[in-house]
Amino acid sequence: MCGIVGYIGKREKREFLLDGLKELEYRGYDSAGIAVLHQNEINYFKASGKLDNLVEKTKDFRSIGFGLGIAHTRWATHGKPTEINAHPHWGEFSFVIHNGIIENYMDIKKDLQSEGVVFLSQTDSEVIVHLFEKFVNLGFEPETAFEKTIASLKGAYAILLISKVASQKIFFAKNAVPLIIGKNEEDELFFGSSDAPLIGFASEVIYLEDGTYGWANEKEINLYKDSKQIELSFKLLNSSKIYAQKDGYRFFMEKEIYEQSAVTSETLMGRIKDEKVYLEEVENLDFSKIDEIKICACGTSYHAALTSSYLFERISKIRCSVEIASEFRYKKPLLTQKTLFLVISQSGETADTLEALKMAKRAGLKTLSICNVDNSSIVRISDATILTRAGIEKGVASTKAFATQVLSLWLLALHVGSEKIDENEYASEIKAMRSIPEVLRVDEKIHEKIHRLSKRYLHGHGFFFIGRDIFFPLALEGALKLKEISYLHAEGYPAGEMKHGPIALADSKLFTIALMPQTMLYEKTKSNVEELSARDATILAISPKEFELADDFIKTAPHEHPMSEFFEMMVITQLLALEISIRLGNDVDMPRNLAKSVTVE
Ligand code: AGP
Repeated sequence: MCGIVGYIGKREKREFLLDGLKELEYRGYDSAGIAVLHQNEINYFKASGKLDNLVEKTKDFRSIGFGLGIAHTRWATHGKPTEINAHPHWGEFSFVIHNGIIENYMDIKKDLQSEGVVFLSQTDSEVIVHLFEKFVNLGFEPETAFEKTIASLKGAYAILLISKVASQKIFFAKNAVPLIIGKNEEDELFFGSSDAPLIGFASEVIYLEDGTYGWANEKEINLYKDSKQIELSFKLLNSSKIYAQKDGYRFFMEKEIYEQSAVTSETLMGRIKDEKVYLEEVENLDFSKIDEIKICACGTSYHAALTSSYLFERISKIRCSVEIASEFRYKKPLLTQKTLFLVISQSGETADTLEALKMAKRAGLKTLSICNVDNSSIVRISDATILTRAGIEKGVASTKAFATQVLSLWLLALHVGSEKIDENEYASEIKAMRSIPEVLRVDEKIHEKIHRLSKRYLHGHGFFFIGRDIFFPLALEGALKLKEISYLHAEGYPAGEMKHGPIALADSKLFTIALMPQTMLYEKTKSNVEELSARDATILAISPKEFELADDFIKTAPHEHPMSEFFEMMVITQLLALEISIRLGNDVDMPRNLAKSVTVE
């Protein structure tokens, strides 16, 4: 998730813009830049890496007196995290910064290139400034040119644009990613992708709605939607910075659970076209020469890998094996050239996963990574990478990274299997996939119910999470989430394994979280849960179907597709772990003994 800061007024702009970007560092970034328009001259600076590099570059720059400033921290989604790909991007007389993904950028870019426009970066964002200048050069007023530019864009965007043809105003637009405008009594205007950079400067703010756009100068803000001017509704700004960084949630993990709906929209952005999966990152990978996919990962990423193994075999009709990286490293594995070696890692720095990848490279295998951090070690040495676009994940217990990993792997399975399954089945996969961001929208009533029932699960001698098929790796993941942040013992198990030993543990103090989807082996799972209930185990059933033997029951929606049930049950297990941990008074975001990235063996 990129960060945006903007300013209109007389204050020294470099300091305000850089301090604003520092307040957004928590969102994660890999490059940054600023641009200032003062007395019809635009100064701009960009730097890859940490903000300190930009601070150094701008150390001799100051901008006093009325002017406009825009600033940006970039989290790479299209194009490597290099200086040239950093924002702002410019044309001949305008500069733009953008957060989000322009889904139709390739079509716009090709049209502009055919008209002689030269692009400097690999980004989708750069099309915005060239499109704006195209309309200005066709004779449209800047405001109309901006309106036409925004109308041409599909996808998610928070945009600030400044131009010499309108040197008193900032143009802005917002759709699907946050953009806030703030004001104070000194005729200053502020822009931000969250409250944090505005705290201490603005007294009132507008949280722009999707589909709105407009322009602002020091005297007025003109806000539009569908070409109609709309009212400005200001509200008082909360003054707590940490509160702002957590967007009002109690923990980053809670915020990241709620973000899953938005970030999975970004994961899908530009990757489904004309109802077909389109993954430009693997366009050059010839899967006809691959007879096995071997996946290597750790922890939660391993659970995503296990989940995808069902999809690769069922949809892509390709053999798939999954290995825990720390085991794989030392087992002297048999590797063949026709194996695609896939590694999954949120951080891209996990030592075991990185070493496993190097082993595959040394053996001459094609390698592909599913990763959340561009330019990380794993990304740098993989032959290709599919970025999950989850944005920075601050909670040590992974949530949105897992959701975007599974979604990215499902995309890949459909990409590989597009000719292997019939059209109707493919269409139902795409239909279900498009619904996932909505499925991940947290139901406050469900959250409240989980909060209430969590008080019953604070003791006992352990938890079983059980499920079948893709719900088995989800059971493993649910158990890991609970272990990590509550410090209570929990195990994930294939539901069919109970009678092979684990059921000996069954008694009233054994809590069983039963994942009982209606679209996948419901009757089989139900009979496994009945075996546990008959031995007095305490059952929390998660299912769209009423289950009368449940001691606690969380009703889910009657989805038609197993993956929809998977993602809805995933949120429930995440919230259950969160609420139990909060009741136990634990540090949810920084659990004892754990680190966010395990860069050592
Ligand atoms: C997940 O909640 C844990 N924090 C941990 O298992 C993590 O998934 C594992 O260390 C792998 O990390 P990676 O995805 O960054 O490689």
